[in-house]
Amino acid sequence: MAAALVVGACGSGSPSALDPKGPASERIAQVWWLMLALAVAVYLVVGALILLSSRRKRAAEEGDRRLPLSENAFIWVGGVAVPTAILLVLAVVTVSSTAELTQADDDPLRIEVEGFKWWWEVRYPDADVVTANEIHVPAGRPVEIELTSADVIHSFWVPELAGKVDLVPGQRNVLRLTADEPGEYRGQCAEFCGIQHARMAFLVIADEPTAFEDWIERHRAPPPDPPAGPAAEGERIFESTSCAGCHTIRGTSARGTSGPDLSDFGSRRTLGAALVENNRGNLGGWIVNAQALKPGNLMPPVSLEPDELQALIAYLESRR
Ligand code: CUA
Repeated sequence: MAAALVVGACGSGSPSALDPKGPASERIAQVWWLMLALAVAVYLVVGALILLSSRRKRAAEEGDRRLPLSENAFIWVGGVAVPTAILLVLAVVTVSSTAELTQADDDPLRIEVEGFKWWWEVRYPDADVVTANEIHVPAGRPVEIELTSADVIHSFWVPELAGKVDLVPGQRNVLRLTADEPGEYRGQCAEFCGIQHARMAFLVIADEPTAFEDWIERHRAPPPDPPAGPAAEGERIFESTSCAGCHTIRGTSARGTSGPDLSDFGSRRTLGAALVENNRGNLGGWIVNAQALKPGNLMPPVSLEPDELQALIAYLESRR
């Protein structure tokens, strides 16, 4: 009952592991429902026995001492045989599910994700593409995500698509998932990693396979021509101020690695690790004082004249 209330309360808006959108999460949800069903059955049986025992006590007081089962037999059945059977069923189901979830697929798309406090670097090693916080995948194709961390332990969790796997410094863990349908699936760091742990989110964006190929091609193609208009001034500002010390933009002299690669920033839906929508207003606020939006992150306030800020925004939004 309590579980049903909790499930109901999680309802719309936040992604639920009980609303699976791929084979891995489907399997996990099945295990969850089996566990719930068994727990409810045990609860009902124990409740019924408690009621029964209170009635039997009265019957015993009235001199009726007949038992359906000897006391020893009751303990052997109810205390040993039934729990052992239930635990055996759960052991077989969970071990076989885990084996299935970790089984390698034929021809998966390989992606590398590295956790940083508090954002995600995303690399496509076979295509030489680097991005951040938004992971494009082709719908229907298995994806093999290799996970590691640059600093502390994080945990990669997209409830609608797969289980959780930790990102551990110096170690490479693998998570396998498939998104059945195109769509946007929200992910979240699921291991406490510092004050912005709760705002270490990301998106998995499942595209139609052809749209995914287009996306990869666009990102691996030679960098676009130097921008014109205010964006050209923005590029000059980006390369000559503190921006370039921390961020990389393909095809420019900006090669910093302590912040996210911004080569395709204009095509991202969100900024600040899925913190807010990527629009000019939020971007301006972020550049001027990222600490107000996400206290404790590594980005210092950047002081610029208003027209310089507008030029920088125009430049970043032009990088797609
Ligand atoms: Cu990263 Cu919590």
